[in-house]
Amino acid sequence: MRHSEAIARAIVRGVPNSYLQATARYFGSGPTDVSDARRQHSAYIAALRGFDIDVTELVPDEEHPDCIFVEDLAVVLDDRALLTRSGHAARRGEQPAVAAALGNDLDLVEMEMPGTLDGGDVLRIGDCFVVGLSTRTNLAGAQALRDFVAPLLVHEIAIPDDHLHLKSICTSPGEGLLLAPEHALLDGTLENIAEVIRVPAAETYGCNVIVFGNKVLVAMGYPVTHSILEQHGFQLHPLEMSQIRAADGSLTCLSIFY
Ligand code: GLY
Repeated sequence: MRHSEAIARAIVRGVPNSYLQATARYFGSGPTDVSDARRQHSAYIAALRGFDIDVTELVPDEEHPDCIFVEDLAVVLDDRALLTRSGHAARRGEQPAVAAALGNDLDLVEMEMPGTLDGGDVLRIGDCFVVGLSTRTNLAGAQALRDFVAPLLVHEIAIPDDHLHLKSICTSPGEGLLLAPEHALLDGTLENIAEVIRVPAAETYGCNVIVFGNKVLVAMGYPVTHSILEQHGFQLHPLEMSQIRAADGSLTCLSIFY
C-alpha cells in the first residue's frame, strides 16, 4: 500500500480446485475453467516478478473458493498490517494463512466488530486514502481504517450497490491521477483528490490497474482505456483476466503489496 516506487513484496495465493464455486454476483458470470484460471494467475505472478517484486505464493485453500483474492484480507501501511473483517463472512476463514505470512514481516492490528471492510475498498493515492462504503465495507470499518492510518486522511465515497468494491471501478495509474468510469463515482469526491481520467462505462473493468513507475499492468481488452493511458505516457503490460474476472476479481484483488 506504499507508493509504487517503494513496493518490494507481494503476497498471492494459488487457485484452488474449488475455484469454480467462487462468488460471482457483480460483473462476473462464474469461472468455468480452473486450468485457465491457473494459467492467468501464473502469468500475473510472472509479471509481478518481472517488475522485481519478491512474490510469496501461499498454498490454495480448498475450503475457500475465493482465496486467491488476498487483497481483501489486509491493508498495509509501512511496517503494519490491518487485518480486515471481510464484509463477506464466509471469506473470513481465508485470513489466518495470510495473517501468518504478513506477521513474518509486519506488526498486525486486528479490526474489531462491528467493523467490516474489504481491502478492495481501500485505495491509497499520495498521502491520503479513499475508502468505498459498499456492500462489504461499513462505516465502522471505515473508522477502523481511519484509526489505523492516522494522521493520514481518509476520504469516504459511496459505492453503488451494483458494483463490488471501490477498486473494481477506480484505481490510481500514477501520482495525482485516478482512473474511473464516466457513469459512477460522480459526487465530486474523486475530483477533490486528483485529476480523474474518465473512460466509457463499457470499459469499467479496465479501470483496475497496477502501476510500477511508468509501467502499468492492465487487463487485456479495454482499448479506449489503454489508448488514454498511453497518451499519458504509460507503458502498458496487458494480462488476460477472463477467468479472474469471472469470479468478480480484478488485477489488484490478487495481491497484498508492501
Ligand atoms: N469473488 C470475490 C468476492 O466476492 O469477494
